[in-house]
Amino acid sequence: MVQIEEVSEEVDFERIGSHSHIRGLGIDENGEASKTGDGLVGQQKARESTGHVVNLAKKGKLAGRAVLFSGPPGTGKTALAVGMANELGQDIPFVQLTGSEIFSADKDKNEVLKEKFRRALGVKIQEEREVYEGKVVDIDIEQGQGMNPMAQGGAMEASVTLETQDDSRNLRLGRRVAQQLQQENITRGDVIRIDSESGQVQRLGKAKEDWEDTADASVADLVPTPTGHVQQEKEFTHTLTLHHMDKVNAQRSGGGLAAMLGAGDSGIDEDIRNAVNEQVKEMIEKGKGELMPGVLFIDEVHMLDIEALSFLNRAMEREFSPIIVMASNRGETKIRGTDIESPHGLPLDLLDRLLIIETEPYREEEIREIVEIRAENEDIEFEDEALDALAEIGDESSLRYASHLIAPANDIAEQQGEEVITKEHVEKAREHFIDVNQSSKHLEEYQDRMLS
Ligand SMILES: Nc1ncnc2c1ncn2[C@@H]1O[C@H](COP(=O)(O)OP(=O)(O)O)[C@@H](O)[C@H]1O
Ligand SMILES: [Mg+2]
Repeated sequence: MVQIEEVSEEVDFERIGSHSHIRGLGIDENGEASKTGDGLVGQQKARESTGHVVNLAKKGKLAGRAVLFSGPPGTGKTALAVGMANELGQDIPFVQLTGSEIFSADKDKNEVLKEKFRRALGVKIQEEREVYEGKVVDIDIEQGQGMNPMAQGGAMEASVTLETQDDSRNLRLGRRVAQQLQQENITRGDVIRIDSESGQVQRLGKAKEDWEDTADASVADLVPTPTGHVQQEKEFTHTLTLHHMDKVNAQRSGGGLAAMLGAGDSGIDEDIRNAVNEQVKEMIEKGKGELMPGVLFIDEVHMLDIEALSFLNRAMEREFSPIIVMASNRGETKIRGTDIESPHGLPLDLLDRLLIIETEPYREEEIREIVEIRAENEDIEFEDEALDALAEIGDESSLRYASHLIAPANDIAEQQGEEVITKEHVEKAREHFIDVNQSSKHLEEYQDRMLS
């Protein structure tokens, strides 16, 4: 048995642009956070705590629990969640949800939540398939005869000789395969794979050996001629999300026309979800599948109402549950949909499940470094003085505001035909775009004037 490839498909990664500089948590094997690492600056204690959470998740010790990042805006709560997902591995899903998002006009809020949950659950599926693989040394596609109505699609039959470095097979192929060979424009010298069960034809490239002497740059997809038998068992691995499997099943069961037309209703109901759960359980039992719980990151969790929060609480008890990470910048506040005040606006039974990690505001030099990393990540160059100015602005106003000024400052520099951003460009950008405090003060002044 040969393991041929890792096909990662349909994992719903939703990595966000403003966090693209973050590659992990920047902690060493002893669990200690260096000052700067993996794109993260400072916030060492929270990074180390998050590292413990990653370890617990890997050991499966997070079941029934959730993580809450608690801290003021712009202190890296989302950044830490992204870093955590990266530490857990590239082939697990990371799904983001903002509390207010569930209240959409055309969808039931529990449906929105359920879908997000299932997008955050991956299944790594292993399949053994019998395939025919080799270089095409001879191909003959027979077209159907004119009078036969069945033949209007073109090819009726094909005969193909496939060759590996060690073997050669002559295959007679039926109409389905023949048509695909035609559609894919398979010709002599192509390396192809035919799935014996589904008959699916895949073109892998052109046989490298045939082109070794030519320096033709237009032949980009050269692959070596395979070794071993033409007919072989191969193991395929791919990661799908439960939501993807729901969708496929809904389409198969006929209710999926709406989904295919891109309408709001995906045709996924509880029956479909249960059937998919059964399929997945069976695959796991047979050792053909492995559950890959991803991260469901719920930002502004106080925006969820009591019903959604109870759903969340119950969902954590289920057999399949993603790692739930929440963020909040609220202290005591009303649980939405009730008159009860509670920390972070969360009910007690949910609070009881939380591992809480606190994030602290940054110091000026940390802001400077974060802004510098963000700029580098976007290939934007700042003069030292310009970075100092941005750091100062960040310290006085907010990290968010300072980060937002990077792009406009760059635009101003470009307009002036300059490649490196100076302090003057930063100041210009600041004049063009005011921060939130200035903005609300500005409006208050107008309101005052109208009243007097
Ligand atoms: N410690 C950090 N190191 C590097 N970048 C950071 C750090 N903390 C925040 N950022 C970046 O600063 C911006 C604001 O942080 P964010 O994570 O959105 O804050 P919060 O979610 O707490 O409001 C984002 O672009 C984020 O990637
Ligand atoms: Mg955030």
